[in-house]
This record gives sequence, C-alpha cells and structure tokens, in this order.
Amino acid sequence: MARILGAICTSHIPAIGAAIARGAQHDPYWQPFFDGYPPVRTWLERTKPDVVIVVYNDHGLNFFLDKLPTFAIGAAAEYRNADEGWGLPTLPPFPGDPSFSWHVIESVVADEFDITTCQEMLVDHAFTVPISLLWPDPAVRSFKTLPVCINTVQHPLPTPARCYKLGQALGRAIESYPQDIGVVIVGTGGLSHQLDGKRAGFINKEFDLMCLDKIVNDPGALTSLSIRDLVRSAGTQGVELITWLTARGALGGKTANLHSHYHIPVSNTAAGLLLLEDAA
Ligand code: DHB
Ligand code: FE
Repeated sequence: MARILGAICTSHIPAIGAAIARGAQHDPYWQPFFDGYPPVRTWLERTKPDVVIVVYNDHGLNFFLDKLPTFAIGAAAEYRNADEGWGLPTLPPFPGDPSFSWHVIESVVADEFDITTCQEMLVDHAFTVPISLLWPDPAVRSFKTLPVCINTVQHPLPTPARCYKLGQALGRAIESYPQDIGVVIVGTGGLSHQLDGKRAGFINKEFDLMCLDKIVNDPGALTSLSIRDLVRSAGTQGVELITWLTARGALGGKTANLHSHYHIPVSNTAAGLLLLEDAA
C-alpha cells in the first residue's frame, strides 16, 4: 500500500524563483532565507518520494475569475508551466501519475468532496517555486506530481476547517492506494502577506509564529478561524495558509516537527517552512 512519508509547508513567492534563476542564493538578502532549506532537502534525499502532492493556489494562470473551482485535482500525464508575467523562466513539464490521480479523485469524491478534475492543467509559481526550492537540481526530480489546487482568489473561499478535512480525505486516499509507493504532501503559500490595498506590505509575525506552532501541535485551533479572521490577522493573501492546513490534514493527529524556519520579509511576504512526519 502507499505510505505518507511526511508533509512540507512552504511559501511560494515568485521573487524566490527569480533569485534561483540568477543564482542569487548567497546574496545577503537571500542567504538567510535559503539557509532554511538544506535540512528538508537532506530528508527528501533519504525518503525519496515516488509521488509529490502539491497543494497550492493558482493565481490566474490556469483558472480565472470567470470559472474558478473551489478545489481542483490534476488527472494529467504532465503539467505544463507557463509565463505569468513575473519574468521567471518557464520550467519543463512536470510528470503526473494518472493512475494515482484517478484513485485520489475517486476516493475524495466518495468522501463527499465534489472536486473539479483537470485532465489539462497549467501550474503556476505556487507549484514550481517550491519544487525548485526543495529539489534545486532538476536531474534528481525523479518523482511524479499531483497538483491539488484551492481557490484563494475569488470569494467565497473554502473555510480552514473544510481544507483541513480535505487534507484528511487526501490522507485516506493515499493510504488506500494499492501500489507500494511513498508520497510526500507539500502545502504552498503564506505566511502573512498582503499585496494590495491600504495594508499592502502587512506582515504579522506574532500570528505567523502562532500558526507555525498550531499547524504542528494543534491544527484544530486554526480550523476554528474563519476566512475573515485569516484576512484580518494574516492579510488578504495570508489566506494561503489554508493550503498548509490541507497538507497537515493528510497526516495523523500527532506529528513530529523535524524542521522549521521563518524569515521576514521575502518580497512582501513572511516566508515560513515546516517539515512534519506522522508521530504515530
Ligand atoms: C508575493 C507573494 C505571493 O504569495 C504571490 O503569490 C505573489 C507575490 C510577494 O510577496 O511578492
Ligand atoms: Fe501566492
């Protein structure tokens, strides 16, 4: 049977992709941010996932305001990246695993999550930047991918509680897949940031550090928050925290925090990182 090896939560800021593209990882601005990642890369080299589920939010590349599913899951043989206007190099397609995708889709729909299935799906910086951060060398990206996309753009957004339950459903889907594969689930987005309006540049360190603790030890404390609470405390784009709650939901009740990192700011955002394993 398939096994959940662990969960990783990370920010996905486009400027990180630009820094990688121009080799700026050791610049004084960037070094303290990139210093967070080697322990997670070492863990990934050891655990070698066969499939990586990326729970992220699209920013207008694949879905736009005219049609915006609350939850969408990829069911394609490959996922292409495309220019979003951030000046990032377009990365080569990421291989999918249609057999695993359809199993996950059947399982979560049976679990009453009526998601949108995507047999074609462009993936944006929220998918590509975390992969570039976690596996800097494209030659070692031997895993297949499964994009799980959550609406954080067009209100109403799914509640933190609903996203946590989706994560639990994803966990059941993984563990009922008959093939003996290792799966890592990555949640990308956050932490606090607001890109527009009067509070542009808003960061809330106290709230972020509380979230880093609660994601590990007491996710239930975050599932009682509303989207309005998240916007108030984390900024309009800080709602991306729901992707972290989804990834966390796939693990059991008790988790071990193997590594965490927090650095402010990266561009307009508080950058956070967590590596979690099931403690059961
Ligand atoms: C930034 C952060 C994001 O999450 C994003 O999707 C785009 C830009 C930023 O801080 O620049
Ligand atoms: Fe974003």
